[in-house]
Amino acid sequence: MCAPSPLDSVVVMTTSTAASTSEHRRHWWEGATPTGSREFEPSPAGPTDEPGAAPPLHGSGPLLQTVRFARDQGRALFEGVRRHGDVFRIDTLLEKRPLVITSHPDHVKSLFTAGPSLAPSTAGQSQLRPIVGESVLTVTGARHRRQRKLLMPPFHGKAIARYREQILEATTREIDGWQAGSRLRLADSAQQVTLDVIMSGVFGIDYRSGESEQLLRKRIRQLLALSASPLARVSELMAMRRSQPVGLQKWGLAHLDRAILAVIAERRSAHVPGERHDILSLLLDARDDEGEALTDAELRNELLTLVLAGHETTANSIGWAFERLVRHPEAYGRLRDAARTDDDGGYVDATIHESMRVRPVIPVLGRRVMANWRFGDAVVTEGSRVLIGVLTLHHRDDVYADPFRFDPDRFVGVKPGSSTWIPFGGGDRRCLGATLAMEEMRILTREIARRTDLGAIASSPERPVHRNVTMIPGRGGAVEVCSVTP
Ligand code: HEM
Repeated sequence: MCAPSPLDSVVVMTTSTAASTSEHRRHWWEGATPTGSREFEPSPAGPTDEPGAAPPLHGSGPLLQTVRFARDQGRALFEGVRRHGDVFRIDTLLEKRPLVITSHPDHVKSLFTAGPSLAPSTAGQSQLRPIVGESVLTVTGARHRRQRKLLMPPFHGKAIARYREQILEATTREIDGWQAGSRLRLADSAQQVTLDVIMSGVFGIDYRSGESEQLLRKRIRQLLALSASPLARVSELMAMRRSQPVGLQKWGLAHLDRAILAVIAERRSAHVPGERHDILSLLLDARDDEGEALTDAELRNELLTLVLAGHETTANSIGWAFERLVRHPEAYGRLRDAARTDDDGGYVDATIHESMRVRPVIPVLGRRVMANWRFGDAVVTEGSRVLIGVLTLHHRDDVYADPFRFDPDRFVGVKPGSSTWIPFGGGDRRCLGATLAMEEMRILTREIARRTDLGAIASSPERPVHRNVTMIPGRGGAVEVCSVTP
């Protein structure tokens, strides 16, 4: 659908009036379920000794709820919020206690600012744990603080400037390969770029590197392809609540580990301190408080975490951004105009903020409360796992007017709030790679909008699909390339 068609205006009209026409619709991603018309009211939150009622129970039957939540988190979240409001609980097979879900900004703030001993992350119990082992993503407490401190320097704003040229180079190479009239899954195309960037930032590997490094790159692609297969879903379910991989996952990881360990061994033998700037070289020099270097297994876990956390998320965010843009010709037209001038007036950033608001790639975040915790009228028992509904928070109509409408203008000249816009999480667990990811998305979005004209392949919005902890576009952000300029 390269030429503007009457369909475009229908899509714009229906999404912008989503709240008033919600009765006709079935799915939240079609603008289905407004969060209600309550006024924004502050809500007390935090550790408490006071009594309070348990949050309302949503649905029944732990097996049914586990399956429903695993299959379609978005739907489960919106349904719960529509029925019960800010806070509710579900019984699942994942936990002995009910899982508590909240989407109120004050509750989120209380969890983000509580400190790691009171509200630690539950990423260590996610499906990523058997894959990445113990790393900055999955450990808590003093160990987490140490690992994060070690990994921080290459992700600071100044360090990111070093990656800018690489990102632009990889983006240019990718777009040069596009042809007018062809069809693309933008998430896959963006992944070529983000994988290049992360492989070169983390391992110092680029497309010109040697044999063992190219093998590692190949193995990572294979593991990613494998994780998209239906068989992998079975392995994921088998691995639930385990800390070690099983089944297909175990087999895939054994191959990958051999390739990673080979690269680590090569680097160790040729390592000259201070010579290279990639993260692997940096970590080879790192020493903990006792003066100990990281073991091969520790290095493997940290590096794999960075590679896995650091490229599919970004690529799928690009997929979602253009999935929205090609269905919103006015916003897309403005973005193209902005990208084709020297000063974009903040519209590129605003577009990224808005697409991450309506389609956060990580739709829920987990914390465990280590004290009884007040969330509004409800009090949650110490030890409970609390999920922050990023997706439902981002669609509150008392925070965002007409929340189902895709409207980058709402972020022009506006800094997103730290407890109302949380695609990168928050507090001491906020995404380590957020600055890098933003820079990648800025360059990719601007270059794609500047050099190409894209059209939607189908008028219907793409259905969100849940893979591991992510929510990705069902058709990968499918577009038709209408034109490409050199
Ligand atoms: C658009 C892209 C990305 C999104 C949406 C995203 C999102 C997130 C989220 C939601 C968290 C959990 C935060 C929390 O629990 O509060 C997280 C953690 C993390 N992310 Fe990202 N991420 C992205 C890109 C990256 C990149 C590029 C890297 C690294 C190269 C990265 C590395 C990490 C790491 C290491 C953690 C764990 C931090 C910790 O627990 O201390 N991410 N990310």
